[in-house]
Amino acid sequence: MDKIIIEGGNTLKGKVKLSGAKNAALPVLSACILAGGHHRIQRVPALRDIRTIREIMSGMGVIFQDDNGTLLVNSEGICEKEASYDLVKTMRASILLLGPLLARLGKARISLPGGCAIGARPVNLHLKALAAMGVDMFLDHGYINASVDNLKGADIFFDIPTVTGTENIMMAAVRAKGKTILKNAAKEPEIINLADMLRGMGASIEGDGTDTIVINGVSELGTVEHTIIPDRIEAGTFMMAATMNRGEIEIEGCQPDHLTAVIKKLQSVGAKIEATSMGVLVKGPDIIKSVDIKTMPFPGFPTDLQAQFMAMMCIADGSSVIKEAVFENRFIHVNELQRMGADIVVDGDKAIVRGKRNLQAAQVMATDLRASASLILAGLVAGDGRTEVSRIYHLDRGYEAFEDKFRALGANMWREKA
Ligand code: UD1
Repeated sequence: MDKIIIEGGNTLKGKVKLSGAKNAALPVLSACILAGGHHRIQRVPALRDIRTIREIMSGMGVIFQDDNGTLLVNSEGICEKEASYDLVKTMRASILLLGPLLARLGKARISLPGGCAIGARPVNLHLKALAAMGVDMFLDHGYINASVDNLKGADIFFDIPTVTGTENIMMAAVRAKGKTILKNAAKEPEIINLADMLRGMGASIEGDGTDTIVINGVSELGTVEHTIIPDRIEAGTFMMAATMNRGEIEIEGCQPDHLTAVIKKLQSVGAKIEATSMGVLVKGPDIIKSVDIKTMPFPGFPTDLQAQFMAMMCIADGSSVIKEAVFENRFIHVNELQRMGADIVVDGDKAIVRGKRNLQAAQVMATDLRASASLILAGLVAGDGRTEVSRIYHLDRGYEAFEDKFRALGANMWREKA
């Protein structure tokens, strides 16, 4: 298994260009199933999760071709094939194929995603909404078997605003008969990016970006050319790196309105953040102030930046409380940060971090995607030796060329192949 080695202490300075957002690319690629033909998708990041969804879709007859940064997707020959446990267990977002398969073929067989490192993460809200749209479903040896003659529009209220749940039902509803109203829908920028793509295919959708989305089903959709939005979680990670290292990083492609809550917190911490013609410039302060956060659905502080923020609070002046309100059990990185000398106490859904001047270099283990990034940020400031982050396959699920981007900013960091 590959690991990343960091010799910390270097100040980070320069420009970094954001990749396309993984969480926008996954639903967009799934949505290519909705209409047969050749779709052109730009700014698709080269990531393990993207390879996984491509592998599942290829098994269903979809043909992919890389063309100079654009992904050509031919979904003409889609056929009935299951999404196997072996692939779905590595990426829960495979469930995003359920809505489009039902809309196009009226049938789908997808492995039920199992438990995951950051909590139970059920898909009950996806299934309840599909049932309301007329889908018959039963569980068979760990697989969801779903079928429907004609999807029908429905009034749906999500008990919790679920991101992939909202996307799944949007993709089913665009081909359903009649009107679907999604209430308490997720409002993330990735939802708007998907809605833009679906409108490009001929769908009728209004209200995306608010908690009520109205979709009028259409009988036919066409092919589309679409660009994935820049990755706001990658942007936030580099913002925190600049803040922690007293560095100065210009983040090209960063859309500040996707990161309002994060920018406000970083300003409270002491970072200077200004918009530039290319994106956003972040300058780290001499002393990092401690600030509390609570994770929330968009536009609140994203759970996908909680671990990185915690790494930053480990070297802040004073104590902070980090409350994880989206997922249960998303503090597994705490044990690894403690190995680097961090003073953190977990109490239920809260972590109390007592900031210290320094972290120590150590051998640590990545436990999930965003936890890997937090350990690398910690390693970049631990200037007393080598930090080795193992199980880096978690990082490769969601960060494109992470160590190359950091090296270009002056970090002393490299990958060792197992
Ligand atoms: C998406 C993101 C993930 C991010 C998360 C929250 C993708 C591919 N992944 O995950 O990076 O961390 O949003 O911003 O976009 N829930 C239920 N039942 C359901 C669905 C969700 O109880 O059927 C709960 C979850 O357990 C969680 C909350 O709802 O507590 C929000 O989860 P959700 O928004 O669905 O997360 P994902 O879409 O899986």
